[in-house]
Amino acid sequence: MSFVSHVECTVCGARHDHRRPLTVCEKCGQMLAVRYDLDRAAASVTKEQLATRQAGMYRFRELTPLDADEPPVTLGEGGTPLLPLPRLAAHLGLGRLWAKDEGQNPTGTFKARGLGMAITRARTLGATGFVIPSAGNAGGAAAVYAARAGLPVVVIVPRGTPPAAIAEAQIAGAHVFTLEGSIATAGKVCAKVAPLLRWFDLSTLKEPYRLEGKKTMGLELAEQLDWRMPDVLLYPTGGGTGLVGIPKGYDELRGMKWIGGTFPKFFAVQAEGCAPVVKGFVEGAETTTAWENPTTHAAGLRVPSPFAGRQMLTLLRESGGGAVAVSETEIQDAQRLVARVEGIWTAPEAAALVAALQRLRDARTVTRDAEIVLVFTGAGIKNDPPPLGSPTDLTGSDEEIVDQVRRAVGR
Ligand SMILES: Cc1ncc(COP(=O)(O)O)c(C=O)c1O
Ligand SMILES: [Zn+2]
Repeated sequence: MSFVSHVECTVCGARHDHRRPLTVCEKCGQMLAVRYDLDRAAASVTKEQLATRQAGMYRFRELTPLDADEPPVTLGEGGTPLLPLPRLAAHLGLGRLWAKDEGQNPTGTFKARGLGMAITRARTLGATGFVIPSAGNAGGAAAVYAARAGLPVVVIVPRGTPPAAIAEAQIAGAHVFTLEGSIATAGKVCAKVAPLLRWFDLSTLKEPYRLEGKKTMGLELAEQLDWRMPDVLLYPTGGGTGLVGIPKGYDELRGMKWIGGTFPKFFAVQAEGCAPVVKGFVEGAETTTAWENPTTHAAGLRVPSPFAGRQMLTLLRESGGGAVAVSETEIQDAQRLVARVEGIWTAPEAAALVAALQRLRDARTVTRDAEIVLVFTGAGIKNDPPPLGSPTDLTGSDEEIVDQVRRAVGR
């Protein structure tokens, strides 16, 4: 038996039966969330028992929506390291800084968690195929887990999506389509196509289980910081599943009395070319409004109208955090900086966090004594690198070549 008590609407509270396939609230059309019997979960496992379990997303079995005998569709996702960043912290004049390195997941991004969980549940509940609109990485992950489940999938991405994510979906046998526009345009096509194909629509937060996968980042973070929460947490925000998911994980651990204290200050980080959450936050809006002409090379941040705008803005305000937009140049500079000082070639979306952190430090919103976690959502290798110049090409005699190397390194 699972520890799920029910699924409820995050806006109107309507209860839904979790034993059948679910999308959005049947009453008001808003986002659903899985709720657990946390007392029973707490009585079933101890922290000591947890510590003996295998690493990975299903380590926290009591807080996943799987039935007791439900086999996960898995490639070993989760269990990513929380890396201390002492050299970057020193460079920035900050104290305690960590990155949750989600680039070490299968598929090279945190999308593996959400799609692994959603496809597991959908398959159990009878799905025979899938449809997903994506900025790239989610489509790649959906394709990979659908292949692992032996089921077909349609992936629709905007033109200009990073080629590695498209190739990842194609090589896994997905039906891949590109179109003019953004993930929002792709989402509209998926909403029309899914009922015709009778395949399940995996759009961000339009079913309740991707969130349960992303939530495991929060569960792991709590365990990795010895059952504390950091003071500040920065998250690169597109659709916002992780931003909603991490505090959901913390909340549930609080309900189990495994952690106490206050939430971190959550900061949503976006690109200046597509910043609906930052705009909504600055304007004090209740929810986000669609961003016209979204442009950024950080494809995962190119989400003009996130479905969970309302939930994200509430979280940012209630936690005392905020929202920051950074420029394309800042993102590229940060990507090179993180690789040079810590050896992590992180995705542009994740590098945006470092650029935002510099701004928060300059504004003294974040101080030296704060414990800070950056969620590095993906590996840089899935994207074109930032401009790096050409490597020096060695020519001439052996002696001349040796001389060129010595002159270039200055020794
Ligand atoms: C590498 C990367 N970071 C961040 C995001 C944004 O994630 P979310 O939709 O959870 O806000 C994406 C989404 O495509 C992504 O691929
Ligand atoms: Zn509702």
